[in-house]
Amino acid sequence: MKKLLQNIASKKSLLLILVGPLLVATSAFYQQTLWKAPATADAKKSPLKADDATITAGKAVYAQHCQSCHGKKGKGDGKSAATLNTEPGDFTTAATQGQSDGALFWKVEEGRKDMPSFKKKLTEEQAWQVVAYLRTLK
Ligand code: HEC
Repeated sequence: MKKLLQNIASKKSLLLILVGPLLVATSAFYQQTLWKAPATADAKKSPLKADDATITAGKAVYAQHCQSCHGKKGKGDGKSAATLNTEPGDFTTAATQGQSDGALFWKVEEGRKDMPSFKKKLTEEQAWQVVAYLRTLK
């Protein structure tokens, strides 16, 4: 009986040894490739109207804080882009434009890897303004 239990226990740990790293690697892979906002952030609506004033303000934020990496037209070809380890992506594509305002806002606030967090650098209003501006780059 003891032997049987030991046998089962060792099989289980063998399974864990084999499957554990695989799970860790897969989730790391997904986190690296997919950068997804949590559902609550994704559902958040902009408190601003995307009118001329908002977009003009967003453009100014973009020129000062984003353009160096993301490029003038949002293609990811700013002058610092070549020095980054992560590609900034392309704002003109459906991959970016297909995301909700809330998701883009969350990414600006949180940052990831080479993408800085702007939580402390911009007011929430400025972050929503720049999201409205990103929509004009499609
Ligand atoms: C130092 C360079 C740098 C600056 C400055 C920067 N970004 Fe980024 N940004 C990145 C990189 C690199 C990524 C890709 C990050 C990743 O995939 O992990 C990114 C990703 C993003 C994404 C996600 C795009 C997508 O399709 O999911 C958004 C949105 C974004 N940036 C907006 C901004 C805004 C708005 C600003 C200015 C307020 C800004 N970024 C400033 C480097 C930068």
